[in-house]
Amino acid sequence: MNFELKTIDSLGAANEKCDALIVLLSQSFKPGKDALSGLVAQVLKAGDLDYKAGKSLAIYRPTGMACSRVVLAGVGDGAAKDVRQAVATAVAALKAGSLKKLVICFASLPKDEAVRAAVMAVADASYVFTTTKSRPEGRVIQRVLLGMPNAVKFRPVFDQVVASVKGIEFAKEWANRPANHATPSLLGGAARSLAKFPKIKCEVLGPKEVAKLGMGSFMAVAQGSDEPLRFIVLRYDGAAKTQAPTVLVGKGITFDSGGISIKPAPEMDEMKFDMSGAASVLGVFRALAELQPAINVVGLIPSCENLINGRAVKPGDVVTSMSGQTIEILNTDAEGRLVLCDALTYAERFKPRAVVDIATLTGACVIALGAVRSGLFSTHDDLAAALVSAGESSLDLCWRMPLDDDYAEGLKTNFADVANVAGRAAGSITAAKFLQRFTSKYPWAHLDIAGTAWKSGAAKGATGRPVALLLAYLLASSK
Ligand code: BES
Ligand code: MN
Ligand code: ZN
Repeated sequence: MNFELKTIDSLGAANEKCDALIVLLSQSFKPGKDALSGLVAQVLKAGDLDYKAGKSLAIYRPTGMACSRVVLAGVGDGAAKDVRQAVATAVAALKAGSLKKLVICFASLPKDEAVRAAVMAVADASYVFTTTKSRPEGRVIQRVLLGMPNAVKFRPVFDQVVASVKGIEFAKEWANRPANHATPSLLGGAARSLAKFPKIKCEVLGPKEVAKLGMGSFMAVAQGSDEPLRFIVLRYDGAAKTQAPTVLVGKGITFDSGGISIKPAPEMDEMKFDMSGAASVLGVFRALAELQPAINVVGLIPSCENLINGRAVKPGDVVTSMSGQTIEILNTDAEGRLVLCDALTYAERFKPRAVVDIATLTGACVIALGAVRSGLFSTHDDLAAALVSAGESSLDLCWRMPLDDDYAEGLKTNFADVANVAGRAAGSITAAKFLQRFTSKYPWAHLDIAGTAWKSGAAKGATGRPVALLLAYLLASSK
């Protein structure tokens, strides 16, 4: 899909040739003398529409206008949330038609967030996954023109959100792929494909190298599968070598059966999404490739399957992590933290300014925060605040959770330095407390995206979250 940005007033919008024109009407709209303004005035007078968010009206072949269809949509005072909803609803309703060129027009000067919302909503509403269909019917919308008064002012915001969408769609593609089309090796290939872009380098380690590094915890998870593990190291070098990088660590479990502590059958297919953290790291690199900002970023992805064979790790087994700490694996389904802890230790070598891990880590986080906000865990107030505000500005929300040491009580065991699970209470926090033990060398934050990375039910599919949040955070931290 191709996005363009252009300055247009209501006369320009009326004259723009396209399959559909979506006009976002906010309270501050000042009608002119053109056909579109006339139409809006008529509709408002007749009481068929007002500026309220959620109200819309579609018209076919409007007189005196160059478009085939026009949708007039109220967006209240132009809040990003309302713009997102208006565009999503309009695109969903128009999707049935043969819609190649779409124009979205802000009738009055929008806020930066509203521009972001419009681009993200049209991309999201028109996305289709086709990789495993025998007769793919791809996305119909090919061109989207975003029109508004004074477009020049919005160029940087526009470029950032278009890059963000590229990253989101890369993440969606890989997260949506079924596990047999997204093995650890294939994920390694996806990462390597990013190294064709300027400033990006990629290295993919296999079982031998990982054993040599002493990643006994990661290896314990991988040993139950015939599919070999991969440890992916991505680098984006956009700034001087002297500038400490931000490290992103993504959980890359390409399928989570639970292992010997096997999961129940219903919805187990959704555990193909258990590499959504990894996909979001790949997505961020895809966006960096587009934007080429002056920052340094490292991406680390420990990737394997959590399966069951005769060599699979058993409840009660004790393994030694790369950090030297021994871990009693009481539940093989708490595998995410076992692969992440070794990646977090590996991250030390980059002397990072900050490390952020992203993981579909706990069902408990879904219970706590649902699909609205990702769970954020950090003891560094500045880092936490920066991530929260990046989430707000990119409409990819998160919520900070506590990390009191008392929550770590349940991880104590008689048989190792730490157990990999505590009780059922506060499950997303005890998981974070486990990870925290491996992060003493740098400022660290953890994002639990178990509730936000994909949707279930009829709209089942990856969301591409939290690519937008991470990208906003990285770009803001470079200023
Ligand atoms: N990948 C799951 C977490 C998950 C569950 C994400 C449901 C999305 C929806 C993770 O590996 C897991 O199985 N966690 C366990 C931990 C428990 C054994 C302490 C969980 O949440 O049940
Ligand atoms: Mn699990
Ligand atoms: Zn998992």
